[in-house]
Amino acid sequence: MTVIDAPTYKNLLVEQRGAVTVLFVNRPDVLNALNRETLAEIEACARHFNADPAQGALIVTGAGEKSFVSGADINELAVLDPRGAEEISRFGQRVLDTLERSPKPVIAAVNGYAFGGGCELALACHMRLASENAVLGLPEVSLGIIPGYGGTQRLPRLVGTGRALEIMLSGRRVKADEAERIGLVNRVVPREQLLAEAEKLAQAILKNGPLAVAAVLEAVQRGLQLGLDDAQRLESGLFGILAASQDMHEGLKAFLEKRPARFERK
Ligand code: COA
Repeated sequence: MTVIDAPTYKNLLVEQRGAVTVLFVNRPDVLNALNRETLAEIEACARHFNADPAQGALIVTGAGEKSFVSGADINELAVLDPRGAEEISRFGQRVLDTLERSPKPVIAAVNGYAFGGGCELALACHMRLASENAVLGLPEVSLGIIPGYGGTQRLPRLVGTGRALEIMLSGRRVKADEAERIGLVNRVVPREQLLAEAEKLAQAILKNGPLAVAAVLEAVQRGLQLGLDDAQRLESGLFGILAASQDMHEGLKAFLEKRPARFERK
């Protein structure tokens, strides 16, 4: 058995609640803005989560009442030269890709401001719940820059090109109710229930076959980058692989025996 030491973090609080890991971005002085160090810690946390067989779902949220993540840390952006700007963009993209490519569900619990890199962090999660006070946006153009952590690509895929362009070109703020209406977040819940609702969603997913959950994530995330023919081939390939799994054997057997399935997480 491989034992992996849990990393220690300066800018994150990480809790394990049973099989659910909760990651709080925690930089209260800057409303949880993402500096390079915090991005590196998110990557370390995501990798540790991915590698831990006992952990089945990750919730990403912001510490405190007011902010999910206020954006990239503008103090760091202000001193970038062109090479440094491209490099931090590639780094941020890599970190958020690590979340998106996780074989286990990653849920954003958007608990307040989610601007710029904060909105991009939420976009890289597989699903998004938001509290009533959440406000999202990609206001980079107002700073003379563009979203650099995948936002220009993920937002149009989620809400459509016209809406995404309006949001990014105007830099305007999108409140929770509108975010829900346009599909930018899955659901808005009362503030005090946000984490509980995110955990409830995680638990509902955890009841299902872990290999099947991973296969849905792969089919959707990788399939979205392919043409329909290739994406359907990917789906069939994964469907075939699952037929060899203990999960499928147990899932179908449990149905026929009229009992809940008992899936193993190894
Ligand atoms: N990077 C660095 N510092 C930030 C920050 C960011 N993205 N967002 C907020 N802060 C800092 C503020 O400078 C302020 O610091 P100070 O107390 O030393 O003055 C502190 O966090 C609190 O922010 P403040 O603006 O006073 O809070 P507010 O409630 O009035 O406004 C926001 C909150 C999020 C609307 C506002 O801070 C804001 O517009 N932030 C920038 C958002 C943005 O453009 N993000 C995209 C970056 S690419």
